[in-house]
Amino acid sequence: MSDVLRQEECEIMPPMIITIDGPAGSGKSTAARKLAAELQIPYLDTGAMYRAVALKAIHESTPLSNPQALADAARRAKIELLCGPTHTRVTLDGTDVSEAIRTMEVNQATPYVSRVPAVRQILVEQQRRIGQQLGALVTEGRDQGSVVFPNADIKFLMEASIEKRAERRFHEMSADGVETTFEQVLENLRTRDGNDQCQWAPLLVPGNAIRIDTTHQSITEVVELLMKHIENAKNHRRNASGSRTHSHLDSH
Ligand code: DC
Repeated sequence: MSDVLRQEECEIMPPMIITIDGPAGSGKSTAARKLAAELQIPYLDTGAMYRAVALKAIHESTPLSNPQALADAARRAKIELLCGPTHTRVTLDGTDVSEAIRTMEVNQATPYVSRVPAVRQILVEQQRRIGQQLGALVTEGRDQGSVVFPNADIKFLMEASIEKRAERRFHEMSADGVETTFEQVLENLRTRDGNDQCQWAPLLVPGNAIRIDTTHQSITEVVELLMKHIENAKNHRRNASGSRTHSHLDSH
């Protein structure tokens, strides 16, 4: 699917793949979006792709316990991500679902979709194709540094306490007009962490990832820290390679 991600208003960027993985509410989405805007490269929200498949399954009354039917929904889903420097819009089969994929119902359905290996295979292939097409991007999810882009130029792993993560999620959802309480969000995160523990523990720790604990950091501080790491990586590679090799990060 060559048109999954359309680039809007983003400038031509150097070939640099930056992955940000972490659990729900770790601050990775906001950080990834802001980092991409700072670097003027596209931002890929892979969670939105899993959410879009879950929404399709809900629309079509696909039983969440039927992996084949979910894989079939994933195969038929036409997901398009519109990437701008300050926003991402998501369309599913031609309809804008940017808000519809953020409801509690979709939150709860998505893990059923994302645990199906055939669904993952379909979306991972799409993500790799997007990476190849764009050359440079900030991509965010659970498996981006470990599975999808193991050769990424720089990999981050974001972490935060569960209370902080619930607080952030609660504010985001309230701002989106979703009716919920802090306690509900905390409970939902605990359940998701429980599921994720089996599902994600091995994926969440890509080799050579830089771990960032965002519990006590503002988003501005986090993005500054990420930028520092990116600068360090560039300098390190420049020094290490000297005139012998030409690094991805240096090349433009
Ligand atoms: O990051 P998020 O909350 O929008 O992710 C939504 C769901 O999709 C969550 O259950 C984890 C799953 N997910 C995944 O399985 N793989 C990814 N690369 C990104 C998200």
